[in-house]
Amino acid sequence: MFDDVAERYDLLNDVISLGLDRWWRRVAARAVADATAPGARVLDLGCGTGRLGALMAGRARVVGVDVSQAMLARARDAAAPFAGLVQASAFRLPFADASFGAVASGFVLRNLEDLGGAFREMARVTAPGGAVVALDITGPSDRRLRRLFDAYFGTVAPALGGLIERREAYCYLVRSLAQLPSPPELCTLLEGAGLAAAHARPLTWGTATLFTARVRQGTDRKKASG
Ligand SMILES: C[S@@+](CC[C@H](N)C(=O)[O-])C[C@H]1O[C@@H](n2cnc3c(N)ncnc32)[C@H](O)[C@@H]1O
Repeated sequence: MFDDVAERYDLLNDVISLGLDRWWRRVAARAVADATAPGARVLDLGCGTGRLGALMAGRARVVGVDVSQAMLARARDAAAPFAGLVQASAFRLPFADASFGAVASGFVLRNLEDLGGAFREMARVTAPGGAVVALDITGPSDRRLRRLFDAYFGTVAPALGGLIERREAYCYLVRSLAQLPSPPELCTLLEGAGLAAAHARPLTWGTATLFTARVRQGTDRKKASG
């Protein structure tokens, strides 16, 4: 699916999120910067066209991973100086244990059918004490806001999206929104994958959420997995 939308993906994102995706990514990049030393190796998982990686690249050595060859080609053409771009799946990352100071992902969670498995892989490749930072669109918990959110994604956004992209591609994006567990459930999944201090920070009234968690230090990590 992402191979088909790669060309217009950034425009689609900007239009549907009313430009908020840019601010949300900046918040995620700041969380990665707060959790890592300058020059740290950071994995941008599901890097897409490279927008999140570009925000982290000035300070970190960013390796981008994506399943979509077309998305990787766009990331390669972008100005972001990636230290590497690799085609691979979130469920089987081709990296040694503890090889990154942090793993970041932007708008990828809702595409992953086995979130627990993906979180375990993210935890495995992150060094002890390092951070997992994941950003995604979520529904606000306030009932009235939730109704507005659902109405927006049910009617206005499809009309906007339809101007840019084929309707089935847009429908996939809407369906994938509904698949994501709630923020507290996602925190439970992060901790179930052996990560500590899982936290969900609502952004823009909870229409997006920034998830952060830490990889346990040596002995804590052994206790959690054994
Ligand atoms: C909605 S896009 C987000 C792209 C980018 N992170 C951003 O901030 O705009 C989701 C990306 O995740 C990738 N993706 C989906 N499933 C994946 C998987 N199992 N492993 C790695 N990447 C995946 C897609 O190819 C796509 O590029």
